[in-house]
Amino acid sequence: MTPYRAIAFSGSLRDGSSNTALVRMAQRLAPPQLAVDIIDWLDQLPWMNPDLEPDPPAILQQWWTALRDADALIVGMPEYNWSPTPLAKNALDWATRPPDDRAIAGTAVAFLSAAGRGGGANAQANLTTILGYLGAHMVEEPPVRLSSVADRLRADGTTDDPEIEEAVRAKMEAVVEALRARDAAATDTAPEA
Ligand SMILES: Cc1cc2nc3c(=O)[nH]c(=O)nc-3n(C[C@H](O)[C@H](O)[C@H](O)COP(=O)(O)O)c2cc1C
Repeated sequence: MTPYRAIAFSGSLRDGSSNTALVRMAQRLAPPQLAVDIIDWLDQLPWMNPDLEPDPPAILQQWWTALRDADALIVGMPEYNWSPTPLAKNALDWATRPPDDRAIAGTAVAFLSAAGRGGGANAQANLTTILGYLGAHMVEEPPVRLSSVADRLRADGTTDDPEIEEAVRAKMEAVVEALRARDAAATDTAPEA
């Protein structure tokens, strides 16, 4: 079977970022049915400005194409002041455009967070609600909201903590299950030939 295709990005630009490490871990631990490509150019997107939509710059078209070609989107989601980072928010706002043909519609979306005390729950919550409303398939369970784990993650996405690996592995398996359920639902509703 051809694997499902996921793209993944980190909402942190920081050298040694825990969330970039989680994205690399997700790529490494994803089951064979899910091929994960990491993209690292979303900081080049323009700030959200609907004036750009009639003649979208090449990088925005590249983002929309990457989303439309993917079955799933994995986001390493840090939390700044109870919110997603500007990079993540901007990329995801663009993902909800254009309004009559949202690039993220139909995509399975999974958040992985390494943050402070709350583990990124606030950053995940608001976007989970709105992206689901706008047509993404939010893979909420099992949550990956890791608190104060920076000293247990290496930049290459490895760790000596089996619980972190298990959490990320389970999330990637949940993404595959969500895509299978999506496909099964589409088959059930397809008109008979
Ligand atoms: C400006 C700023 C605000 C932050 N606010 C929060 C917060 O509200 N909740 C939280 O859990 N952590 C917060 N943190 C801590 C970050 O989530 C933590 O440093 C995390 O490791 C950043 O992700 P990274 O390692 O991928 O860069 C904040 C950090 C910064 C720089």
